Amino acid sequence: MIKYYNINGVITPAEKAMMHVSDLSLHRGYGIFDYFLVRDNTPIFFDDYLDRFEASAAKMYLDIPISRQALKDRVYELIAANKISNFAIKLLLTGGYSSDGYTPEQPNLMILGYEPPVYPESLIESGFKLMTCEHVRQIADVKTINYVASLIVDRERRAAGATDVLYHKKGLVSESSRSNFFIVKQDNTIVTTDKDILFGVTRKHILALAKDHYKVEVRAVFLDEVFSAKEAFLTSSTKGTFGVTQIDDYKINDGKIGKVTLHLDDLFWGHVQQYISNYTVSN
Ligand SMILES: Cc1ncc(COP(=O)(O)O)c(C=O)c1O
Repeated sequence: MIKYYNINGVITPAEKAMMHVSDLSLHRGYGIFDYFLVRDNTPIFFDDYLDRFEASAAKMYLDIPISRQALKDRVYELIAANKISNFAIKLLLTGGYSSDGYTPEQPNLMILGYEPPVYPESLIESGFKLMTCEHVRQIADVKTINYVASLIVDRERRAAGATDVLYHKKGLVSESSRSNFFIVKQDNTIVTTDKDILFGVTRKHILALAKDHYKVEVRAVFLDEVFSAKEAFLTSSTKGTFGVTQIDDYKINDGKIGKVTLHLDDLFWGHVQQYISNYTVSN
């Protein structure tokens, strides 16, 4: 159980972690976050997530109130306080309390802990079914707190028996609600887009690993191509890679997770293990 959070610098029991109702995240959807796993007490790819968190904050004109080192120290302190070696951390930076409900003042910085999602074995084996959804995320390269586009189609998605959505616009595919999207062509070339996406940390590592084994193309991906792909998969911090076996009514690889996807997943978790072995807290 995650017992403690850090709210504006104060280690706080999770059940007492409160925010005032005047925060701009509530009223205007003004806020950013980031999310990463802690394994064996090690924040995985810590600097990558902090790079993205800082870049998101800068693009949204939200000032992180403390230095990177101080933020790292708060994370280490939270890991120690919770006495759990495997969990997930969310850094959340909101617009802050605003006296007129609109004007930004001092951002609130929260460090929250979660049990990472556990995916049912049946889903891991059968792979994800995605429902196409016409949308491009606003300020796509920033990890804002706005996930409304996928939430408003949540009932439709469930009715369709889909696990998640696949965003596309004007014939081009971007990403899923909380994951990046890749296809594997018939000749095993791995393709993913660099347009209208959040630049996932998992995506970055998968691309680097894939380059040693496969041809890789980072370019616009057409929706048509997806329907002739040999394999498709998602990447995210909680999933690593996750096979996609169906998009709308179209079955990919006869509804089975492909070999390249499984190979990349193995490479990825091996790489995570390597990261943990090499990690030192002074990093
Ligand atoms: C919109 C979106 N795209 C992609 C990702 C995957 O990013 P990462 O691999 O850093 O978890 C996420 C993660 O939550 C996301 O919210």
